[in-house]
Amino acid sequence: MNYNNILSSSENGITTITINRPNKLNALNKETIHELHEAFDDANNDKNTKVIIVTGSGEKAFVAGADISEFADFSVENGGKLAAKGQELLFDFVENLSTPVIAAVNGFALGGGLELAMACHFRVASDNAKMGLPEVSLGVIPGYGGTQRLPQLVGKGRALELVMTAGMIDANTALNYGLVNHVTTQEELMPLAGKIASKIMRNSSVAISKAIKAVNANYKDGKDGYKEEIKQFGKCFGTEDFKEGTSAFLEKRKANFPGK
Ligand code: COA
Repeated sequence: MNYNNILSSSENGITTITINRPNKLNALNKETIHELHEAFDDANNDKNTKVIIVTGSGEKAFVAGADISEFADFSVENGGKLAAKGQELLFDFVENLSTPVIAAVNGFALGGGLELAMACHFRVASDNAKMGLPEVSLGVIPGYGGTQRLPQLVGKGRALELVMTAGMIDANTALNYGLVNHVTTQEELMPLAGKIASKIMRNSSVAISKAIKAVNANYKDGKDGYKEEIKQFGKCFGTEDFKEGTSAFLEKRKANFPGK
């Protein structure tokens, strides 16, 4: 599929989606959000894709936010719709994919950019990355899940300080906060994300998708995460992956998961 604002390529079980508007620091305009939805959906439905990595093109930015030029003259109604549609098409969508999604944060991740990184299942960053939610400096608040996911990841006090000051933190502070899992050089960022993806791919993709559901349950809709865990745990016993994983262990051989 051809896109105007993103690139998508697949190799060795990994689909890499690159937001490709470097002249606008990869800002998320409406078209980019729609294209990302399509690309994530395609990758999630592709049996050969075991892990998705999302990053930004160029050396400066992952994503510098929602495209400010598109919403500067919005009404109250349009503002609400912008947030609702974006959350549905991209941010909630990514968080709830059954395929693991890693954000490789390669520069500025601001506003919608940090919100996209936070919607991914986890994040790795290069040492030039800068992260923040600067929306209040524009007279608006984060609308793509930032007020919910940032406190989940770093705690309420740190999140509110970041939101209220509209400040940016560097990669090492983000590591210290638990916002990113690893920090490396710019050159090593994609290889590191690939290395982690390879470790993920050795395991049962079916079990991983159920783990995502169980972990996410606690954060949404007032669902009891423990109940969801019991449900997903039970379901694993009906899968071919479970039979293969346990048989392989007992037979002292490496598991070859069918992914079913
Ligand atoms: N929306 C639309 N365009 C954006 C953008 C955004 N969120 N972020 C950057 N751009 C555009 C700039 O307008 C500029 O375009 P131009 O060359 O056509 O004028 C281009 O990207 C380069 O950005 P520039 O500001 O010149 O780069 P810089 O290195 O001086 O500053 C930032 C980098 C990230 C500090 C600065 O671009 C910025 O503050 N961006 C907005 C961040 C933000 O508030 N995001 C939240 C949005 S809700």
